[in-house]
Amino acid sequence: MDRLVIAGGRRLEGEVAVSGAKNAALPILCAALLTREPLILSNVPRLNDICTMLRLLEQMGVKSERDGHRVSLDASDLNNPVAPYELVKTMRASVLVLGPLVARHGEAQVSLPGGCAIGARPVDQHIKGLQSMGAEVGVDHGYVNARAGRLRGARIFTDMVTVTGTENLMMAACLADGETVIENAAREPEVVDLAQCLVSMGAQISGAGTDLIRIRGVERLHGAEHRVMPDRIETGTFLCAAAVTGGDVRLTGTSTGYLDAVVDKLMDAGCDIVGEKTPSFEAIRIRAPHRLQAVSIRTAPYPAFPTDMQAQFMAINTVAEGTAIIRETIFENRFMHAVELQRLGADIRIDGNTAVVKGVDRLQGATVMATDLRASASLVIAGLVADGETTVDRIYHLDRGYERIEEKMNALGARIRREKA
Ligand code: EPZ
Repeated sequence: MDRLVIAGGRRLEGEVAVSGAKNAALPILCAALLTREPLILSNVPRLNDICTMLRLLEQMGVKSERDGHRVSLDASDLNNPVAPYELVKTMRASVLVLGPLVARHGEAQVSLPGGCAIGARPVDQHIKGLQSMGAEVGVDHGYVNARAGRLRGARIFTDMVTVTGTENLMMAACLADGETVIENAAREPEVVDLAQCLVSMGAQISGAGTDLIRIRGVERLHGAEHRVMPDRIETGTFLCAAAVTGGDVRLTGTSTGYLDAVVDKLMDAGCDIVGEKTPSFEAIRIRAPHRLQAVSIRTAPYPAFPTDMQAQFMAINTVAEGTAIIRETIFENRFMHAVELQRLGADIRIDGNTAVVKGVDRLQGATVMATDLRASASLVIAGLVADGETTVDRIYHLDRGYERIEEKMNALGARIRREKA
């Protein structure tokens, strides 16, 4: 397993391009299942999770071609509506094939994703929604088995805000007979990006980005071309890396519009952040003070502070002036980076879903272990400011969601090397 070795004490400055959004690209790849015609995507990030999703689609009969950040998909010959455990266990977003398979193919066998490091990650809302649209859905031997004639429009109220639940049901509803209304829908920008792609394929969707989405089903969808939106979590991660090193960094190909809650918190911490926009260009510039002020956060569904930025903010708070309270309200076990940060000398006390982080003057480099994608990012951020060298083990987690992170950080002045373990 690869590891990263990070030399602390380097200020980040310069310019780097943000990649396309993993959490928009994953559902949009699955949208290809809804049509027999080609779906051509651009700005698709080169990530392990994207490779896994392409492998999953290909073993169903989907043909795919990839050229850099462009991916073309052809699902005209769908012959195996199965998502096997071997693939699903490595990436729970595989569940996003469920809705499209039932809608287009009339059946699906999708392995239950199982839990992951951050929580149990059930999919009961995905199942409940499909059942309300007329699908027969059972769970046997670890697989969700679904079967349906043509789905019918329904009024769906999800018990909690679920991003992939909203996405699965929105995709299924595109080919249903009649109108589907999803209430308590997720409002994340990635849901909006998926909806825009579906509409370009001929779907009739309104309300994406609000908590009430209406989908009027159509007989079939056609091919389309779509550019995946920028990755707002990669954007936030690099903003945190610049902030904690007192840096001056410009991030291109992204905008502040997707992550106001994160930008507001970084400004509260003392950073100067400016969005730059021209007709053909968008960017964010951040200039940070020598030392940040501690900022408290509480994660919640969009547009509130994103849970996927919680670990990164815990890292920057470990060396900020003052004490921060961090509350994680989405997942039940998303503080595993805390014990690793404590190995670096951080002063963090955990009480249930609340962490109290008291800023210290310096962290000390050490060997730490990545446990999940965003926890890995927080350890890299901490390593940038720890005295001496920090080694982050098990960085396969990191490679799932960040494209060439050490190359991008080094282009900004960091000194990170990847070692084959
Ligand atoms: C998506 O996961 C993201 N993944 C996650 O990003 C992100 O952390 C999460 O949304 C929250 O924003 C992708 O988009 C591929 P949820 P998802 O369904 O859809 C509970 C990353 O780092 N729930 O919104 O799986 C669930 O347990 C990843 O890129 C049910 O109980 O999350 C959680 O507590 C990590 N039953 C809460 O709802 C269900 O049927 C929100 O989960 C569905 C969800």
